[in-house]
Amino acid sequence: MRRPLVMGNWKLNGSKAMVADLIKGLDAQLAGVEGVDVAIAPPVMYLDLAEQLLGKAESKILLGSQNVDVNASGAFTGDISPEMLKDFGATHIIIGHSERRDYHAESDEYVAKKFAFLKEHGLVPVLCIGESEAQNEAGETVAVCARQLDAVINTQGVEALNGTVIAYEPIWAIGTGKAATAEDAQRIHAEIRAHIAAKSEDVAKNVVIQYGGSVKPENAEAYFAQPDIDGALVGGAALNAESFAAIAKAAA
Ligand code: G3H
Repeated sequence: MRRPLVMGNWKLNGSKAMVADLIKGLDAQLAGVEGVDVAIAPPVMYLDLAEQLLGKAESKILLGSQNVDVNASGAFTGDISPEMLKDFGATHIIIGHSERRDYHAESDEYVAKKFAFLKEHGLVPVLCIGESEAQNEAGETVAVCARQLDAVINTQGVEALNGTVIAYEPIWAIGTGKAATAEDAQRIHAEIRAHIAAKSEDVAKNVVIQYGGSVKPENAEAYFAQPDIDGALVGGAALNAESFAAIAKAAA
């Protein structure tokens, strides 16, 4: 049985006050909510504060991060290692987000390296995949997702996906308010699962596949009603406790 994961990617947003407010609000609103895993990924410099606040509140909210390096230590200015993330209680680490692929030229191979490195250190990769608007219009959606997944599958074996999370995020839907319809998202999720099933039905059955891209309280339920959509990776709506909690409750 797959357990849905609703994860908030705060991107480059936050302050000490906001971390405190959001965590307080989320904890209050999510008390007693079962059947869904909820995670937040604040900017890395707020992990310490977030870990302390979550600990004090005995919160069930999981802590995540938005990136990781492929090196453990040494002369890599500005980078963060898996062990550092672990040191602050982060468990779910977003990799391959389209904003990193686009603005930092991260290739499929580089993202796959991060995937392997996180697994080696006992962390859960949240692997983002998805097509651009032009690729979507050219009918290349499934091929792009398959290529991004194959960078992991062909180097680490399909079993490497066990216990990890895939986030399908059509780039044209991110932060645009132009969300994919639940039916279109389901179709792509089913294709992604079928691609994995061609190598291992068991892995395909168990891997969590989130949808991301303009998920809001108003459309969340429709996504989660689809058989192959296992939660969401939420950007903008994750910056508001009420909205994010409503999305999480819709997945429960
Ligand atoms: O990581 C989250 C996604 O990029 C979705 O962002 O909910 O603001 O569209 P959004």
